[in-house]
Amino acid sequence: MRLVIQPDYDHLARWTAHYIARKIELARPSAEKPFVLGLPTGSSPMGVYSELIALYKLGRVSFRNVKTFNMDEYVGLAPDHPQSYHYFMWSNFFSHIDIRQENVNILNGLAEDLKEECALYEAKIINAGGIDLFLGGVGVDGHIAFNEPGSSLVSRTRDKELNYDTRVVNSRFFDYDVNKVPKRALTVGVGTVMDAREVIVVVNGLNKARALHQMVEGGISQMWTASAIQMHPRAMVVCDEAATYELKVGTFKHFVDIEQDNLDLASIWESDLRW
Ligand code: GLP
Repeated sequence: MRLVIQPDYDHLARWTAHYIARKIELARPSAEKPFVLGLPTGSSPMGVYSELIALYKLGRVSFRNVKTFNMDEYVGLAPDHPQSYHYFMWSNFFSHIDIRQENVNILNGLAEDLKEECALYEAKIINAGGIDLFLGGVGVDGHIAFNEPGSSLVSRTRDKELNYDTRVVNSRFFDYDVNKVPKRALTVGVGTVMDAREVIVVVNGLNKARALHQMVEGGISQMWTASAIQMHPRAMVVCDEAATYELKVGTFKHFVDIEQDNLDLASIWESDLRW
């Protein structure tokens, strides 16, 4: 696993966005062979989306031949509900770039048959040729997508009950009223994320320090589902310094040392990003 430590959230977001833009450029995607991107919601990727929009407006990246699959969606929220992940993605990202609507895939939390919806989603990912790059965030309790503690590390897309802590954390988007936060969500599985050819998880802020410690220094555990990426051949965590506060000094120094030539934006555009 790579760990790229940036001084603060702005640097983290910019670096990750440039990395993704460069990956898209290197893939030379076409309508027949689009670049397939897995995407998260939440506050962690917000700056990454803003920077990707800025790069698009500068003509440095196009999403014309990019296909996306979102990680998760609340059960019971209509796409036009302001807290639905459909709404989040369109208002914060998709409506500002040149992506084709038919290339956007988000689970339907209103589907009559949720099991069928999840099975179809997995099939759609396979039909798209698999996910080239899955971007993710992590919950305070170490969950990736909505794979709460105790989720199987080989799980596939399914509907999951959200635990109380996650609903409390997410209540900030629901007038701080935990009762307004849906109790269930559709989510890709840990196994779905692990099947991607590359995984990037962005982790920022002091409140994520324990999760980062478990992901990087802890063992692989169903109680910290993001730790599964330790088993991925091309997984990278991009974090800010605040998130590293629970890491050992030796761990911090090790990653600062081995990544020292890769931390600036120029190095991304000069590299073929093969590692
Ligand atoms: C949510 C989402 C996750 C997200 C995580 C962290 O519950 N389902 O995909 O990564 O929590 O959210 P945030 O980035 O807002 O801290």
